[in-house]
Amino acid sequence: MSGDSAVICVDGPSGAGKGTLSQGLATRLGWHLLDSGALYRVVGWACQRRQVCLDDEAEVTQVARQLDVLFRLEPAGVSVWLEGEDVTGAVRSEQGGADASRVAALPKVRAALLYRQQELARPPGLVADGRDMGTVVFPEAPLKIFLIASPEARAKRRLDQLQGRGESVSLPRLLSDIEERDARDQARSVSPLSPAGDAIVIDSTPLSAGEVLGKALSLAIDRGLTTEILDPRLDPALISR
Ligand code: C5P
Repeated sequence: MSGDSAVICVDGPSGAGKGTLSQGLATRLGWHLLDSGALYRVVGWACQRRQVCLDDEAEVTQVARQLDVLFRLEPAGVSVWLEGEDVTGAVRSEQGGADASRVAALPKVRAALLYRQQELARPPGLVADGRDMGTVVFPEAPLKIFLIASPEARAKRRLDQLQGRGESVSLPRLLSDIEERDARDQARSVSPLSPAGDAIVIDSTPLSAGEVLGKALSLAIDRGLTTEILDPRLDPALISR
């Protein structure tokens, strides 16, 4: 890991708004972005495609080690490419999330993906979105945010997101999926979902995405990680200075 690079960790359960916050931070600061959930999702997807059983730790680890994956930060979000093919839609489905959570419970798979994640910490900085960014992958990070929201709010946001993509799902089903996924993520023996001791907990339930971003940016300024918002594409005033 490049120890000198600034890292902001954004951890928390599914649907708390980590993705939106992380993309907002990376864009506004002009930093790199790690969507670690997408990494586990793509491992699950690659296993399904190669007919590898998701509980076969040795085989799944092999797939994780050989993964030829690329992430692109685009205005619509992070797109995911596997062996040159855009698999964004497939990996972001509900099934993709459930498969990810199964492969993510395998210790050797997590170990295989650890260095791949750490090497993304490069100047000018990295925003790392996940479950164990602050506890395991970047324990020295100068700013760790643990974003939470009520299960109901998270299920509702997820419903809006999936309906926007044309997937048909029911709210009660989403709520029970979220609770099941939380339980699995919190109970696993390796890297369970929990805030780092030095994480700042933000409850996004009553907040808009813009308010959450505003809170995170002021924390970044307080920690000396940035003095101003660096992305000139979003702030034309900066270009003309
Ligand atoms: O964040 P996202 O919903 O894309 O993550 C999918 C699944 O991948 C999570 O439910 C979790 O099981 C797993 N995951 C993980 N560690 C991370 C990121 C995601 O275990 N750092």
